[in-house]
Amino acid sequence: MRKLFFFSILFLFAFTLFLMWLYSFREFRLGYLVLGVLGLLTALGIYDSFQKKHAILKNFPVVGHFRYILESISPEIQQYFIESNTDGKPFSRNIRSLAYRRAKSVNDTHPFGTQSDIGGEDYVALRHSIYAVHLKPEDLRVTIGSDFCKQPYSASIFNISAMSFGSLSSNAIKALNLGAKKGKFYHNTGEGGISPYHLEGGDLCWQIGTGYFGCRDDKGNFDPDKFQEKANWDQVKMIEIKISQGAKPGHGGVLPGVKNTPEIAAIRGLKAGETVLSPPSHSKFSNPKELIQFLAKLRDLSGGKPVGFKLCIGRTEEFIEICKEMIAQNNWPDFITVDGAEGGTGAAPLEFSDSVGLPLEPALIFVRATLDKFNLRDKIRIIASGKIISAFSIIKNIALGADLCNSARGFMFSIGCIQALRCNTNECPTGVATQRKGLVKGLVVSDKSERVFNFHSNTVKAVSELLGAAGHRHTGELSVHDLVKGDEMIKLANRYFPDTVNTQV
Ligand SMILES: Cc1cc2nc3c(=O)[nH]c(=O)nc-3n(C[C@H](O)[C@H](O)[C@H](O)COP(=O)(O)O)c2cc1C
Repeated sequence: MRKLFFFSILFLFAFTLFLMWLYSFREFRLGYLVLGVLGLLTALGIYDSFQKKHAILKNFPVVGHFRYILESISPEIQQYFIESNTDGKPFSRNIRSLAYRRAKSVNDTHPFGTQSDIGGEDYVALRHSIYAVHLKPEDLRVTIGSDFCKQPYSASIFNISAMSFGSLSSNAIKALNLGAKKGKFYHNTGEGGISPYHLEGGDLCWQIGTGYFGCRDDKGNFDPDKFQEKANWDQVKMIEIKISQGAKPGHGGVLPGVKNTPEIAAIRGLKAGETVLSPPSHSKFSNPKELIQFLAKLRDLSGGKPVGFKLCIGRTEEFIEICKEMIAQNNWPDFITVDGAEGGTGAAPLEFSDSVGLPLEPALIFVRATLDKFNLRDKIRIIASGKIISAFSIIKNIALGADLCNSARGFMFSIGCIQALRCNTNECPTGVATQRKGLVKGLVVSDKSERVFNFHSNTVKAVSELLGAAGHRHTGELSVHDLVKGDEMIKLANRYFPDTVNTQV
């Protein structure tokens, strides 16, 4: 192939020179351009032949580059030319355009009937009632705050899940926070802590990850004074200890070096340019007792704000141990966020995303059943996250045990994410998940914050319509019996945890 390449180039050189001679050199100016291009291709071909990193380029100089070019745009080719309305991954075109249409507040109806396989095994639906009712979306709020909490928070049933500044751009964070402010719902900061871009006035759930960003000392340990100062800011409504997230349980956060700009490094107390791996577990606790003590301490330091923890369920017995400890210490979190293994991330090892942790459905059923068993269900709010974008997914997860839901990628879609699958490269073309200034500029905060607001309010409105269709006046009235195939779902949960709660409590 190499010989063929250089032979072709030589031939083209000779042929161009021949044409230039034929038409007398002066009149055939294009020839110089062609010679220039051929010169560049020859140089590239020589470089490709001598480099040692890429076998493809060595064996197929110059043309081998097409492989890399096509590979780099394969998500776009897949999305624009190959995928159907229902099979895009992780989110189908139907779901993405639902989010886009709700964000733009344009016609969100669907023509001609379902494209889903409603005879298939995965089909789950709401049992509607003959006696449908009408209700107001703004009434769908849930109070978070147990008996120990002095500043309970009235939450929307749909909120922005944890995504840090660093993982997302400054403009993305600003747009999310402004949208949350306008729509009166909360914005989880993500484990990167509170950045200046979070301070647009939207309610914050401050997430404390294993890196303790924003409340750490020089050695990376938790600093109670720094925590107390920020936790008492009015904009901070709740505090969430991040134990794990579904996309990479047991791994710890990953901030790729290319996204660790001097600004982010300064906010988090790091060295710019280095890939930052947060530890996989907390230094403040290593058993249920210390976790509950830490939680109670955070509540005290924050002046009695709701404090909870987020986790993806792995070993069920560990969760049961934590519940036992709540009873022993007579203290419990105000909320628990259950993140399914199907959850998203900015960057994670593939094996962790694909093969660690429980999906949301069985995890949620397990957590609800376990809290029930310990008589804690009415004291602790359950928040669900994991591919929750449509109003039905909110209804379904609340019916399975949640009180309210969070969405990360749904809100990313609302600010223009096109599922380009580049969050880990700093090359996000929409300016959502990148720190490159030239790309971030494209995300106009005033426009996108309005879309965040629209996406939320149109989705909650759709929830209220579905609830009304089922004859309910509040999400609190939903139960697994509202779902078609509810029994099969319980069976599914039992397959993962045969009698877990009964035998292990
Ligand atoms: C870009 C991105 C960054 C994220 N960063 C965090 C984080 O800092 N802390 C965390 O607990 N979860 C993080 N997550 C996970 C989400 O908060 C959420 O739990 C998960 O994506 C499930 O929600 P989704 O399916 O709606 O995206 C991140 C997710 C994405 C997509």
